[in-house]
Amino acid sequence: MRVTRRVAVCLPLAAAALGIAVFAAAAQNAAPETIKIGLVMPMTGTSAAVGREISDAAKLYMAQHGDTVAGKKIELIVRDDQSVPDNAKRLAQELIVNDKVNFLGAGLTPSAMSMAPIATEAKVPTVVMVSGTSVVTERSPYYVRTSFTLGQQSGIIADWAIKNGSKKAVSILSDWAPGAEAGKVFEASFTKGGGQVLDTLKVPLANPDFSPFLQRAHDLAPDTLFVFVPAGQAGTFARQFAERGLDKSGIKLIGPGDIVDDDDLPSTGDALVGVVTAGMYSAAHPSQMNKDYAAAYQKATGHRANFISVSGYDGMNLIYEALKKTNGNTDADTVVGAMKGMTWESPRGTISIDPRTRDIVQNIYIRKVQKVDGQPWAIEFETFPAVKDPLKEAAAN
Ligand code: PHB
Repeated sequence: MRVTRRVAVCLPLAAAALGIAVFAAAAQNAAPETIKIGLVMPMTGTSAAVGREISDAAKLYMAQHGDTVAGKKIELIVRDDQSVPDNAKRLAQELIVNDKVNFLGAGLTPSAMSMAPIATEAKVPTVVMVSGTSVVTERSPYYVRTSFTLGQQSGIIADWAIKNGSKKAVSILSDWAPGAEAGKVFEASFTKGGGQVLDTLKVPLANPDFSPFLQRAHDLAPDTLFVFVPAGQAGTFARQFAERGLDKSGIKLIGPGDIVDDDDLPSTGDALVGVVTAGMYSAAHPSQMNKDYAAAYQKATGHRANFISVSGYDGMNLIYEALKKTNGNTDADTVVGAMKGMTWESPRGTISIDPRTRDIVQNIYIRKVQKVDGQPWAIEFETFPAVKDPLKEAAAN
């Protein structure tokens, strides 16, 4: 009798517990067992190097860290937007609707801008892995950046130039949003320090011929040349710079890190030796983690690791670590909440995600190109720790 009563009391409880378990299992099944990451990158055309570097680095990250996180399988999908913003928008839409991706990776500034409303509307957390234009992260609450901003680097190199005697500069800028931003931040800091920008010359983005601009800059007789060209163009720039004899003219060449892109540097011979830049990554960064990263990247791809590759590698780390924190939950607000304030050790040094802006906070290094074992490398000699995007900081203060 006692036993029967106990069973009678316990049964409903057991059934209820079972019910909860069944419900929980159903909810688990509703969540995707495979988590898909869709990268929209320029895989062909003028900026094809950028797409190759991001996808190679993402694949390297997965080869090193496995393709399972929080019990879910990770699948990487790479789509070629050919640097055309309308393509990026369409591909983002297709990735969301047809492939049901849980994350997007955004590339060049114009493409990242055009994808933003899609990511916002569909609530897809998106890692900005290339764009260096400040405003991009403000275009969607689901955008988080692991690349850099041109402002982060251009103000610091302006201050360095002033401190080292520069007085009259000419700017040569690739004619699109990141170039305009590099020039604006450089000029503000350079003139604040008492310098003068004699002229700002804008070079078309596609198939650039730098020669006439270099000639014009030379004719203006500045003591300093501030140059921004995007990833993939440093080799062409260096060749034309040397052909015009500017490497022997006594004019100091400076810029954000892009002009000494490690993907191009090995082929530039002596043309860029002595050039000083402010950048967030050099393949010569002397940490053990970077030595391992650069060696693994070189082995896997046949190329020297560069600042774009490390942005893709860190982008994957951000996604993996966020998924660990959310236990595999891919809800956009939950994921972006997990990403905010995250800090980790990257091959470039310690980096973090500013919880207020979702933008990257990172060290900016002053580097001088020097030959080591017969090859040019950007050798760091001064560090500005934990630098935020200065344009967002100025707007907030
Ligand atoms: C950008 O898309 O904003 C961008 C791309 C390549 C660079 C710099 C900026 O080297």
